[in-house]
Amino acid sequence: MNAEVLSIQTPGEFKDAVSRAAALLRQGQIVALPTETVYGLAANAFDSDAVAKIYAAKGRPARNPIIVHIASFDSARRTVADWPETAGRLAEKFWPGPLTMVLPRSEEIPMIVTAGGPTVGVRWPRHPFMEAVIRACGFPLAAPRANPSHERSPTTAEHVARSLGAKIPLIVNGGPTQVGIESTVVDLSTAQPRLWRPGMISLDALEAVLGRRILTGEAAGAIARSPGQLPKHYSPRAKLIVMPFDDEAALKAAISQSKTDRDKIHFVAFRARAALEKFGQAAVISDEPDAYARSLYALLHHCDALGAELIIVESPPTGEAWRWIADRLRRAAP
Ligand code: TXA
Ligand code: MG
Repeated sequence: MNAEVLSIQTPGEFKDAVSRAAALLRQGQIVALPTETVYGLAANAFDSDAVAKIYAAKGRPARNPIIVHIASFDSARRTVADWPETAGRLAEKFWPGPLTMVLPRSEEIPMIVTAGGPTVGVRWPRHPFMEAVIRACGFPLAAPRANPSHERSPTTAEHVARSLGAKIPLIVNGGPTQVGIESTVVDLSTAQPRLWRPGMISLDALEAVLGRRILTGEAAGAIARSPGQLPKHYSPRAKLIVMPFDDEAALKAAISQSKTDRDKIHFVAFRARAALEKFGQAAVISDEPDAYARSLYALLHHCDALGAELIIVESPPTGEAWRWIADRLRRAAP
C-alpha cells in the first residue's frame, strides 16, 4: 500500500477529502487525519477489527488505550456510561479543543479501544476537517497519534507519510497543526480528578473551572492506567539532552562527553550563540510557550531527517505555562 495524500485547501478539495475519508472509514479502513494538536490515525471506534488495524500499523502495545474523537455533546455522552457534572462544565468551556476527558466507558465502546479498561478517553477536536469527517461518518473515531509507537508525534502530513505511508491507504494534508503538542488528558472517572497528560489547556485553567484541586504526578499505577505516562515516549531517533545553556563550560563538557561528531550534534536554543556555531545545526526556538509547542516536534523531525545523533535542547523556563512542554522534553530524553 502507498498512501494517497489529499489536500484540503479549496472547498472542493475539502469536500472530496471528507467523502473519501468517510468512505474508507465506513469500510473499516484506517486513515491519517489532521487535528489541531497532532495528526491522528483514525478508525471507527465501534468497530474492533478496524481499531485492531491501528494497533498493527503503529506497533502499539495492546495495553495502551486510544482516545475517542466525537463532534457533538450527544455523541460524547453515548461513548460514556456516566457524564458527571464536572465533565459538562469542562466540555462547555474547552470543547471543541485540546482536552481529553477520561470517563467510565459505555458498553458500545469495544474493549480494544480502552485496552480492556473500564474507562474511555473522549475528545472533541477543534479542527473543521476532523469534525466534518466525524459528522459524515455518524460514528466516533478512535485516533491515536499517527506515528509508530513511542516515536515523536507528527505535526505535518509529510511526517505521517514518512513513517506510516506504506501502511495506510489515505493521509489528509491539513498543513502544519496549530497546537503542535497532544491534548491535555484529565481523568474524571474517580471522585478525585487527576491530570494524566499536561497540554495546552493548563492545570490552572482546569482547576479554575472545576473550583477544586486536580491531582498530578506519578501516583502508583499511573503508567498502567495511562501508558502515555511511560517515561520513554515522544522520542526523536537521536539522543536528546535538556540542559541550561548559560553555563558554557558545562555545555562544552556535555559535548565532549558525548563523543559525537560535531556535525551530528544539533542544538535547540532560545537565542543564537557563538558557542553553538560549527555544529550540525543550531535552531532558535520561540520563548513563548504556544509558539514553542507549535514548532518543537517539527524541529525534532528535522534533526532526525538531517541525521542528527545528539540533540541538545536549552532548558525551558519553569512554571505552569511550560509544564506541558517540559513533560514532553522529559519523555523524549529519558
Ligand atoms: O491530541 C491528542 O490527544 C492526539 C490527537 C490525534 O487527538 N491523540 C493522542 O492519542 O495523543 P494517543 O493515543 O497517542 O494518546 C493517548 C494517551 C494514552 O497513551 C493514555 O496515556 C491516555 O491518552 N489515555 C487514553 N485513554 C485513556 C484512558 N481510558 N485512561 C487513561 N489514560 C488514557
Ligand atoms: Mg503511543
